[in-house]
This record gives sequence, structure tokens and C-alpha cells, in this order.
Amino acid sequence: MTAKNGEMLGIDVDELAVPAIYKLLVGAVVPRPIAWVTTLNPVGKVNLAPFSFFTVVSVDPPILLVNSERRVGLAKDTPLNAKREGELVINIVTEELAWPMHQSSAAPPPNVSETELLGIALAPSVKVRTPRVTAAPIAIECRLERLLEVGRAPSDVIFAEALYFHVRADLIADGKIDMRRLHPLARLAGLTYARLGEIMDLPAVGDAGAVHAIRSE
Ligand SMILES: Cc1cc2nc3c(=O)[nH]c(=O)nc-3n(C[C@H](O)[C@H](O)[C@H](O)COP(=O)(O)O)c2cc1C
Repeated sequence: MTAKNGEMLGIDVDELAVPAIYKLLVGAVVPRPIAWVTTLNPVGKVNLAPFSFFTVVSVDPPILLVNSERRVGLAKDTPLNAKREGELVINIVTEELAWPMHQSSAAPPPNVSETELLGIALAPSVKVRTPRVTAAPIAIECRLERLLEVGRAPSDVIFAEALYFHVRADLIADGKIDMRRLHPLARLAGLTYARLGEIMDLPAVGDAGAVHAIRSE
């Protein structure tokens, strides 16, 4: 049966298996930014993994959220390391980092460092012991604010308080990051990623004239 133009399909979550729910979530909530997270593993080496269930939670204090799903019922290395060490670094992924980032999602044993396996260069952090990825144009040193287990699986939800930002100097002016220079990579679903398309600016909505201009378009 082919869908008619504009026809909506109702899908009841109660009737879906978990993989089907996952497919809807990752297809509907797009594009997602990617947190490329460094943590210290149990032998003091650097664990690196990407997470696209990633967002900002609050500004004062600055708290970011990274959600790690369980792997066959077991917590992944990143939340385990963040919990044990109390810290993590969130590295921002750009287009040119797509391939090493993607490769770092493989799951070697907990004591094996993805940065060593893939030859990814690291630079020291200032306020935490966990290093950052040198090639990432933005890196955010964080302390673990809290870790929540959410849901039936459950998910390990990391709340990370930003303590220190590293920003490549040419990307920032007057405290603002230049969206036209950053080239962030977005995750869509599965193996599919996206670059930013055309960037557009809209008039401020506080301005009555601007609202009128928008409505009359
Ligand atoms: C672009 C990308 C985004 C990902 N996002 C998530 C995510 O949000 N949550 C999650 O649990 N796994 C996510 N993964 C899978 C993890 O990166 C993968 O399970 C990894 O092995 C976890 O590493 P760790 O055990 O060292 O923490 C993602 C993978 C890729 C390639």
C-alpha cells in the first residue's frame, strides 16, 4: 500500500519492540550533535567513544548530558569510567574527524585504549586528568555532576558539568563560536551522517516589524 500525500500514520509505542522504538527515535530526533568522549580507563589509559544522545541541560552551572545505552545489559566503558574517575572530556566532532570518530565506536576490551589503537593524538587538560583529543576544535573538560539510571534497560545518563573550554582561536570572536567555520558533523540514523546545509539567519522575533515581515511572506 502506498501512502497518500500528507497522510499520517499512527504508531503506538505500546505495540512496538525496543529496536523499533529506537529506529523511530533516531530517525525523528535529527540531526544530532556528537560528543566524542574521553575518559580514563581502569589502567589509566584513554578511552574514546562517540555519543549522539547528547545535549545541553543547563547554563548555570553549565551541564551537558550524554546518554549511554546498555550493551547486552552491561554499562559501557564511558559511564563506568566517568563514575569511577568523576570526570570526562567532551570533544566536539567536525566533518574532517568523521572517520576516526566512527572507528572509535568499536568496542575493544575495557583496558584497551581506542586512542592508542587508532593513533589519535591527545593533549593535556587543565582542570581534569583526562586528556582531550588534539584535533577537536572544541573540547569541554567536565566533572561528573551525576549519573542516573533511566528506564527499563536502563540507560546510563551522564550529567557533566563543564569546567573548562578549549576552543580553536580562529573559531571564536566576542565569545561567540562562528557557525560558518566550525563545520560540525551531525549523526542521523545508523551509519548515516550529515554536514550542515545552508545556514540562515531569521529576524529577531522581539521586533514587531520583523514579525509583520514574517507573517506577510
Ligand atoms: C556517531 C555515533 C554515535 C553514537 N551514539 C551513541 C549514544 O548516544 N549512546 C550509546 O550508548 N552509544 C552510542 N554509540 C555507540 C558507542 O559509541 C559504542 O557503543 C562504543 O563502543 C561505546 O564505547 P565505550 O564502551 O568505550 O564507552 C554511537 C556510535 C556512533 C558511531
